[in-house]
Order: sequence, then structure tokens, then C-alpha cells
Amino acid sequence: MSFTLPTNEEKYQYVHSQFERIARGYDLTNDAISFGMHRLWKAKAVDILLTAGSGQESKQEPRQFLDVCCGTGDLALRIASRLDKSDRVTGLDFSNQMLEVARARETTSSSDASLTWIEGDAQNLPFEDDSFDGAIISFGLRNLTDINLGLAEMRRVVKPGGLVINLDLGRPRGIIFAPLFSFFFNSVVPFIGSILQRDRKAYTYLPQSMNTYPEPEQITERFELVGLSEVRHLPLAGGSVALHCGRV
Ligand SMILES: C[S@@+](CC[C@H](N)C(=O)[O-])C[C@H]1O[C@@H](n2cnc3c(N)ncnc32)[C@H](O)[C@@H]1O
Repeated sequence: MSFTLPTNEEKYQYVHSQFERIARGYDLTNDAISFGMHRLWKAKAVDILLTAGSGQESKQEPRQFLDVCCGTGDLALRIASRLDKSDRVTGLDFSNQMLEVARARETTSSSDASLTWIEGDAQNLPFEDDSFDGAIISFGLRNLTDINLGLAEMRRVVKPGGLVINLDLGRPRGIIFAPLFSFFFNSVVPFIGSILQRDRKAYTYLPQSMNTYPEPEQITERFELVGLSEVRHLPLAGGSVALHCGRV
């Protein structure tokens, strides 16, 4: 299948329509293409957010966390399940269909903390400066038209001392693993997408989106560029996933 990546001008609308289309089957497909491993990576990211952020687990004041590009709410729900009644988690996404799934999932979750779902653009966050104790984005940064702006916005809304975390695809290393991963990602993932979602195009965009997404070392530089400090890169799954965190 021939595939042309959207131009920068087309990207926002293009990505939006992809996620509106695949929202219903997103969670199942995510489990299938990551063999359920995304749950472990997310658990690791949430651990870092809650234990290394400014609001320590032994807290005095209510805490507020932001999940940017929250999709079906996986991370937001995970964070909320670790917090108290007085705390709040906000999930933001520009796809109403993804947020609909998140709202439905919330009704069956048992978290105490309050959850708010907001439809909005990650590159123009509708929050005051210093509103949150920490902000996280998973598998979302790659989709933004302006990655630096997305990171700068997360930095802006997090209080001094809080963490900004990004979990996204990395670059697998090794003469066996790297080509295996490339085959899986470029051929098997679109096939799984075509079976489970009947949408090969959306799952062809996924590997293609890597072509324009910076390497982990460059993401580290961008964290620093927007003013984050103590920036760390943690490779996961043989480098195929990259977790970055930086402090405001
Ligand atoms: C691959 S999904 C990740 C969802 C979730 N964070 C997860 O890890 O399962 C990417 C999400 O980013 C959202 N998104 C992409 N660009 C966005 C933007 N500019 N503003 C807000 N959300 C955006 C999409 O609607 C989609 O829900």
C-alpha cells in the first residue's frame, strides 16, 4: 500500500480524523500490537510521575496531574487509581470520540480521585501557568505538528519542581532486534490494524509517523530547549520505547 505522510499543514486535521475513526477499537488494538506491554511502560511512567515529582506520595495538599493526548484515558485512570479523593486528574485530547471511550471507562473504574476530561489542543493548553503538580504524555508527542510547542505548553502549566514526562516510541538497537522490530512495525502492525479495526491506513500512519519523529537523543535536547532540567532518557523494550522526564 503506497502511503504519503500528511504535510505539516494537513497533519492536525489528518491525525484528528484518524483517531476519531479508530477510537472504539483503540484499546484492543493497542494491547495486540504491544502484546500488552504498554501497560508495563505506562505503570513505570506513572511511578516516576508520582514518586519523583514535586508532590511526593506523602503529601499534604491536594494534587493535580495532567494527562496530555489522553486518548481513551489509560494513563489518567491509572494515575487517579493511585491518588486520594481530594486529588484531581485532568485528561486532555482533541478527539471527542477518544474522550467518549475515556468517559465510559471512568464509570467502571474504582478510583477515588476526581477526573475531568477536556477536549482541546495539546499545543494550546487551556490552563493557567503553574496549574499542575506534573504532566505526562504517552504516544502523543509524535502526533503533534509542533513538538517543541507541546513540550513548552506542558512545562508552562506545571508548577516549579514538578515533572514533565513523555513516553513514546524510541529507536531499537542491535543487528537482530532493530530489523525485526522494523518488520513488525511496518508490516505486522498495519496487518493487525486492518483485521481488528478494518483500518489499514491508520495503522500504516503509525510506523510512518516515526520517520519525522526525532531520535531519543534529540527529544532530550528538546526537553532542555524548552527549559526543563535534570532531563533523563530511559530506554525500554530494547530501545523501541523511550521514556523522557524533565523537571520544571
Ligand atoms: C496514540 S494515542 C495515545 C493515547 C494515550 N495517551 C495512550 O497512551 O494510550 C494519541 C492521542 O493523541 C491525541 N492527539 C493528537 N494530536 C493532538 C493534539 N494536537 N491535541 C490533543 N490531542 C491530540 C489523539 O486524539 C490520540 O487520542
